[in-house]
Amino acid sequence: SDSENYDNTSFPALKNDLYLRAARGEATERAPVWCMRQAGRYLPEFRAIRVEHDFFRVCRTPALATEVTMQPIRRYDGLLDAAIIFSDILVVPQAMGLVVEMVPGKGPHLPDPLHTPEDMQRLQDLRKGFSVDRELDYVYKAITNTRHALAGCVPLLGFAGAPWTLMAYMVEGGGSKTFALAKTWLFKYPAAAHELLGRISAVVASFLVGQVRAGAQALQLFESWAGELSPRDFAEFSLPYLARIASHVKSHYPDEPLTIFAKGAHYALEQLVQETAFDVISLDWTIEPAVACKRVAAAASAGATSRSSITLQGNLDPTLLFADPETIRSRTAEMCRGFGNTPLIANLGHGMMPTHDPEHLRVFLETIHETTRAMRK
Ligand code: CP3
Repeated sequence: SDSENYDNTSFPALKNDLYLRAARGEATERAPVWCMRQAGRYLPEFRAIRVEHDFFRVCRTPALATEVTMQPIRRYDGLLDAAIIFSDILVVPQAMGLVVEMVPGKGPHLPDPLHTPEDMQRLQDLRKGFSVDRELDYVYKAITNTRHALAGCVPLLGFAGAPWTLMAYMVEGGGSKTFALAKTWLFKYPAAAHELLGRISAVVASFLVGQVRAGAQALQLFESWAGELSPRDFAEFSLPYLARIASHVKSHYPDEPLTIFAKGAHYALEQLVQETAFDVISLDWTIEPAVACKRVAAAASAGATSRSSITLQGNLDPTLLFADPETIRSRTAEMCRGFGNTPLIANLGHGMMPTHDPEHLRVFLETIHETTRAMRK
């Protein structure tokens, strides 16, 4: 039946806990695998839904969000080890009061972005009665409903955009090649930039706590535009907010696995290990797995609060899925070997693209299963 169920007090028992065990740094019989943007336009069944429903309509309708979240789980029956709730990072700027449209073929568009610090007055304010839980309740409902629909076959991930990435959209009004407007804010109005980042952080932190309450079994924070910042500016304008959000969630749910994907910021691996509470660091493809393993292990044992383990996630270049199956197989196996014995959640280094062939993703998933199982015998 497709009747909706918003009871978040009892869920079906989890049958596949590979993702959760790997995220905690435990040894697993093979590496779990999932893909960023695994629900999306490369799937004909997703495009069929999108012909009839606007993007944000899908996000706001729990039955539809559940359906598209389930699509890759059904298609790759038994090959995916996690589902990620269908939503978007831009639901947060929307909840804060900005209009966000999804323009087909172009991506997100904010017709009235923040031009100067005075425009921050237009944003909803947590100190003045703004309720994250009320505005984003539709995401919580989608999560709860999807937990029931999954029937425990794999864990369900929640997510949010990180403050700098969200600020970039809120100031630029959409994607950008140079991020000149958003970065100008950082350098021209640093105090206002920190105020904005702080306000976004508070909303994101409470949104993530709400997602766990609703049933999200692990969370990922997307700092997709980290690589636009210099290491110095990442340390000032991104890292402290990532750290603050992670410790806020951990203060409510100490056992909830947390992943950070700071795209383009592998210069900051040591800081992410030593200065934040994330359990999993998601890598893009611009770093060799073996190099990342070495640096992360060294940072973990040298840190002030030395941590027992860090799990890595990643990191095949998504463009490799355009290659022929043999190339996908050999490069995926090579990637697995590069991670060696480090706890791994296999993934791409970024999301699926609309022009990917769904059968090529299957080759990637099967290769992860075979290779990592053989490596751990
Ligand atoms: O399957 C999943 O991963 C869950 C759903 C998900 C979407 N967006 C659905 C989506 C997730 C986790 C996101 C995160 C997201 N959204 C990020 C961080 C990840 C990353 O890619 O770096 C960012 C930067 C966004 C903002 C965003 N949303 C952009 C730039 C775009 C346009 C790009 C594109 O592919 O068109 C979107 C739209 C979007 N979000 C789509 C999907 C499936 C496609 C839009 C459509 O269906 O018309």
